[in-house]
Amino acid sequence: MFKENTFQGKVVLVTGGRSGIGYQIAKDMLILGAKVVICSRKKIPLLEAKDQLKTYGDIEAMPCDIRKEEEIEQLAAFIKKQHGRLDILVNNAGGQFPTLAEYTNNKGWNAVINNNLNGTFYMTRIMANHFFLPQKSGVIINIIVDIYRGFPGMVHTGAARAGVENMTKTLAQEWSHANIRINCVAPGTIESSGLDTYPQAIQDMFEEAKKANPLGRFGRVEDVSNAVCFLASPLASYITGISLYVDGAQHLNYDNMALPRILKSFMT
Ligand SMILES: NC(=O)c1ccc[n+]([C@@H]2O[C@H](COP(=O)([O-])OP(=O)(O)OC[C@H]3O[C@@H](n4cnc5c(N)ncnc54)[C@H](OP(=O)(O)O)[C@@H]3O)[C@@H](O)[C@H]2O)c1
Repeated sequence: MFKENTFQGKVVLVTGGRSGIGYQIAKDMLILGAKVVICSRKKIPLLEAKDQLKTYGDIEAMPCDIRKEEEIEQLAAFIKKQHGRLDILVNNAGGQFPTLAEYTNNKGWNAVINNNLNGTFYMTRIMANHFFLPQKSGVIINIIVDIYRGFPGMVHTGAARAGVENMTKTLAQEWSHANIRINCVAPGTIESSGLDTYPQAIQDMFEEAKKANPLGRFGRVEDVSNAVCFLASPLASYITGISLYVDGAQHLNYDNMALPRILKSFMT
């Protein structure tokens, strides 16, 4: 479907591009001809990822915490200096932890909202002001999660990602005058580095959870990246304001309460 030069001459920023889903997106964008910039907080693994990605094309990396506006401004200045423009922003950076709502204190709630909702908005607004609005062109892809029926066991990220999804619908309209397209990709459970961060009891649950997915497996990072590349490409030039679920129909048919049941077994 994708030609090797699909993103030739395009400059792409992938937040959280040092690992997992973001790394795969950066790799595929490079293979398809883009110049890619990745950012994340941890400098050493970020630079290691940059070194590995060099094999595939023109890659730059700069540490940046999406919660810190001054660091995003520095990243924008870096991209301007290196490339003079930005064509595609993939808001992939994020994280959360499993919890029951009644045990989620303000610190935990605010941390996830600040990272996944506020950070995504700061990055989007700053890159739009520096690049997309003056250029009168741009594509933004927001990685959210499967929140179709809420997110039992992760109330904070469900709320944050619903905020991003609604922001996406708003900006698809507000910024349409500048030829900016903005969409979400909503992965189900994806076998990536992100899953390693979950406690053992939840890791143990994963084998059963795989069978419960209508397609009988978890997603692969490539599944998510393929959807991102499609939405970022000219093949999707009339698509804006949507969420594309990449989840084997998990959002329609899945035991959403399996995670809170496990959490209850060791949190209460
Ligand atoms: N794996 C899944 O099943 C799944 C399903 C649905 C959605 N997602 C979402 O997809 C995205 C990628 O997930 P993944 O599985 O690839 O997990 P991952 O390997 O943990 O990737 C998250 C990336 O985001 C970066 N990051 C986190 N907070 C940041 C911040 N404040 N500023 C800058 N970078 C930050 C991390 O790097 P640093 O630590 O260096 O900052 C890391 O590179 C996440 O938003 C995740 O929530 C994952």
